[in-house]
Amino acid sequence: MSRVYAFANQKGGVGKTTTVVNVAAAMADAGHRVLLVDIDPQSNATTCLGLNARALVHSVYDVLLEESAAVDVVQSTQWRGLDIVPSTPALAGATVELNRLSDPRARAERLKSVLAPVLAGYDYILIDSPPSLGTLTVNALTVADGVIVPVQCEYLALEGLSQLTRTISLVQRGLNPGLALRGVLLTMYDSRTTLSRQVADEVRQHFQARTFDVIVPRSVRLSEAPSYGEPGIFYAPRSSGAQAYRQLTRELLRGDGLLPDGESSVAA
Ligand SMILES: Nc1ncnc2c1ncn2[C@@H]1O[C@H](COP(=O)(O)OP(=O)(O)O)[C@@H](O)[C@H]1O
Ligand SMILES: [Mg+2]
Repeated sequence: MSRVYAFANQKGGVGKTTTVVNVAAAMADAGHRVLLVDIDPQSNATTCLGLNARALVHSVYDVLLEESAAVDVVQSTQWRGLDIVPSTPALAGATVELNRLSDPRARAERLKSVLAPVLAGYDYILIDSPPSLGTLTVNALTVADGVIVPVQCEYLALEGLSQLTRTISLVQRGLNPGLALRGVLLTMYDSRTTLSRQVADEVRQHFQARTFDVIVPRSVRLSEAPSYGEPGIFYAPRSSGAQAYRQLTRELLRGDGLLPDGESSVAA
């Protein structure tokens, strides 16, 4: 069975791409077959996996416009088990094309329909979304089983999250009743500041059990990795950031029943 997770937050710079790239890499490293789908015109996830977005001939753009089949656009990466449907800056134009579709359901379900033929080949399909709640993000939420929301431990972190949860509810009620809020992830935590601690407490109070246990610390090594075209967990495996993403991946796998979770596995 394949699982589809969308990584979303309409705020830019909160850690969506860093999270999706590192979780994808850690899942593949653990032996799972992973497809990362980059639907952000900024193409950062594509770059983070060592591809040159500007030199690509085919991308998720062609797939969304049904000019190429997803299977023909999938690229393998230098890491075993990790494939990508890359993005290019041209993707911005796909939104315009999709928005021309008068049927809102057809507009929102395009990604779901074009990915359907490749889902069975993967254990996980992880989607990196753009910093907006527009058509592309709604497409990601419509195909997803769960949404993971990275939140930066900074001033006004909760700002905009009610808008995001409202969008998630709308999608759940209409387009995708199976969508779950898989978890809120605290990122770029700086243990030296009271602000980081306050934000983390506030988010935990608000989302309670739906906040992941692990907190991703601010880590220079994580921010260096993209310029080497490598996921942080491989670029600097011993860094605090890499360890946090390994732990997040274990939390996800355990939640999906793919890792033993102590007591309950003993009882079983
Ligand atoms: N834990 C972290 N520590 C330090 N820098 C980080 C961390 N997570 C992300 N960054 C950096 O912050 C910037 C924004 O992160 P990114 O993942 O691209 O966010 P988004 O996809 O939400 O826009 C990038 O330059 C990234 O390298
Ligand atoms: Mg991004």
